[in-house]
Amino acid sequence: MSTENVKKKLFEITQNLISEDVISDVLKNSIEDLKLLLEKVSGLNQEAPVNSENILLPTGKAIGPKWAGMCLEDIPRTHKFIKGINYAVQKILEKNPKNPVTILYAGTGPFATLILPLLSRYKPSELQLILLEVNTISIESLKKIIKGFDAYEYIKAIYHCDAANFTVPSEFEADILLVECMQHALLREPQVGITYNLLPQMKKEAILIPEEVSLHLALVDMDEKNEYLSIENNEAKRDYYENSEAVFTLNKVEVLQNSSDFKKEGFQFPEKETHFSRKQLNNHDLIAISTEITVFKNISLNIDESGLTVPLFLADLNHDQTVTGAKTQYVVGTDPGLNAQLVRS
Ligand SMILES: C[S@@+](CC[C@H](N)C(=O)[O-])C[C@H]1O[C@@H](n2cnc3c(N)ncnc32)[C@H](O)[C@@H]1O
Repeated sequence: MSTENVKKKLFEITQNLISEDVISDVLKNSIEDLKLLLEKVSGLNQEAPVNSENILLPTGKAIGPKWAGMCLEDIPRTHKFIKGINYAVQKILEKNPKNPVTILYAGTGPFATLILPLLSRYKPSELQLILLEVNTISIESLKKIIKGFDAYEYIKAIYHCDAANFTVPSEFEADILLVECMQHALLREPQVGITYNLLPQMKKEAILIPEEVSLHLALVDMDEKNEYLSIENNEAKRDYYENSEAVFTLNKVEVLQNSSDFKKEGFQFPEKETHFSRKQLNNHDLIAISTEITVFKNISLNIDESGLTVPLFLADLNHDQTVTGAKTQYVVGTDPGLNAQLVRS
């Protein structure tokens, strides 16, 4: 495929991805087309065993190129992130149309999936990128993507580095920090470590995407959940669960507030204890950790909408009837996640 043709194809795909009222079949096909296009242009061999290898970093696991590429297949995730980033870029350009919006994208994977489609919508005078990735093969693939889409003019810099301890050179002032190095419940991957390192280095008005990730204890009614999920593309409000207040929040306010303590040796996030009433417990089947993600403004991923927001099971309340809540604490380090200890009556 010629460069002209891959660019044309990307433009068509992106049109569907950012359209206000894309129907689910068109969205599904567009994501599938995007995957095929990126695989073709990068030449990444998903089946080579080396591409399944993860890298263990001091702040969590950097997943191998095969797995990082596959994140694209989580349709609601990919769709909402691309829409949210597009919306943020538009907002910044509206305020300041004379300067390009610069995005610092940490953990691009092999395709820079979340930003590449938008290159077909903006000129280099409107959008500039600084790309960080720790995996050598992903970096090589990324370079092929940039070449294949003739995207050189959009790239301020590419760094092969650990984004959780990278110092952003002072000549690079970014407007948006984009990080998607996460699993549900902010488990295992270094989303928290990377955000705490990079965000405090940015200008005050910089936008963090996702704007907020919050973890909650959640009670789930399984009958209602199954009924909800039995309806295809159900757009009704998901009312089969009850969230506690957030037990951990990753957003700009929290990061800037805690950032100097975060760097100190022995830093720990506070422990929280959450209880539910007997009535709440009796009305539900499971207790879990739920993840809510605000990508940008009103663009969000709610419970079970994406692999990133699937609840993490803690206990079956029908069998474990003395459980009343849990003590939780978000722990950073090589295996980050929310430690949860059930509390019983
Ligand atoms: C979950 S994948 C997501 C890929 C892509 N951002 C997307 O959303 O489709 C995370 C990527 O971030 C990279 N990564 C993880 N931790 C990193 C770190 N500390 N520094 C740089 N890259 C990192 C991994 O190698 C992987 O390619």
